Amino acid sequence: MIELKPNRDRRIRNFHPWIFKDDIAHVLGDFPAGSLLEVRDANGAFVGQAFYNAKASIPARVISLERGKIGVDFYRKLIRAAFEKRRHLQHSNAMRILNGEADGIPGLIVDVFDQVLCVQIRNAGLELHREIILEALKKETLAGCAYERSDTSERNKEGLQPQVGILWGDVPETVRFIEDEIQFEFKPFEAQKTGFYLDQRDNRRRLAALVNSSSRVLDCYSYTGGFSLYAAKAGAQCLAVDKDAIALQALERSAAKNGLDKQISVRLGDALEVLDQLVNEKKKFTHAVIDPPTLAKRKEEVMAAKRIFTIALKNTLRMLESSGIVLVSTCAYHIKTDDLLEACRMAGSDAGRKLEVLDVTYQPADHPWVLQIPESLYLKTLILRAE
Ligand SMILES: C[S@@+](CC[C@H](N)C(=O)[O-])C[C@H]1O[C@@H](n2cnc3c(N)ncnc32)[C@H](O)[C@@H]1O
Repeated sequence: MIELKPNRDRRIRNFHPWIFKDDIAHVLGDFPAGSLLEVRDANGAFVGQAFYNAKASIPARVISLERGKIGVDFYRKLIRAAFEKRRHLQHSNAMRILNGEADGIPGLIVDVFDQVLCVQIRNAGLELHREIILEALKKETLAGCAYERSDTSERNKEGLQPQVGILWGDVPETVRFIEDEIQFEFKPFEAQKTGFYLDQRDNRRRLAALVNSSSRVLDCYSYTGGFSLYAAKAGAQCLAVDKDAIALQALERSAAKNGLDKQISVRLGDALEVLDQLVNEKKKFTHAVIDPPTLAKRKEEVMAAKRIFTIALKNTLRMLESSGIVLVSTCAYHIKTDDLLEACRMAGSDAGRKLEVLDVTYQPADHPWVLQIPESLYLKTLILRAE
């Protein structure tokens, strides 16, 4: 049993599932990592049930605010609720179907790509429930095959080893899916994260709506070129830049499959170095995307991350035509919208360009975020016009 300090139950009863070390008065007993324990407030009243891992930086995560068995039926109910939430979404045959805390199962990420499921298990509690979770997923999704990409840094913090492999069925060597009539592909065990950045779908659509056949797009930190493929389909010429050779090869294959190969070229390398080269080559673009990796996994890394945004945007602005548009994204929870605005303001100043904010966007609806769980909001994007 976990007993909380006085008043520490309020945030938890208000749907924030994380219990920090400082919230805990006592844990009665010694429990293996991931044990499911009852949580009580300082008066001994029931608060919920939580997975406990004394070694983890977040030692307990609430899985239910009710009593009752946490078994296959419990997980099936949550999976059905997650489907119900997404019923109205007109996407493609790929989407995130479980988004961890925001869908009520802390640490469980599940994406579906056509008939192929990708599962990520991030903590010790879910690890102990692995078999029943997989059974629930199989029954509710009816997916023919599934692979696991539990190779995230969150697992290290739980004292868990990475787990990557086939979970069931015949997982194809290349996973293929369609988003807005564009064919995409990746190799499930070579790709980054779960395979594809589904969370940029709405921004890709926004970019596509802004370009035409006279547009030239710089897609910086392109990965497999989601932005480039959307923009090229809308008529633009695109240059994709990334340091991941495998991702750029996948982009080239997708470009060819979609008949867009004449409109997309790639440059392999460090984005900041390639930006310098492009400035020296006096390249010009009408639109740009800057979508770097997390950059700040801890609060202390935010300053350094802001500097990278400023340098990347400053050089991009040097190549952007008058009234050019740039999308700047961060997927780091610790980098707030204000941080991004400030980094962009400094870049505008350095490049001598006035920046108008056309829009500020957040992650799409299949990656829900819950108001009471601030950590569930990670993706923020500024859409700027440079005068
Ligand atoms: C958030 S992902 C980009 C997702 C992509 N825009 C999409 O829509 O699929 C970040 C990308 O940055 C790349 N990357 C990380 N560090 C880099 C660097 N120093 N230079 C170039 N690319 C880098 C990673 O390989 C990864 O593909």
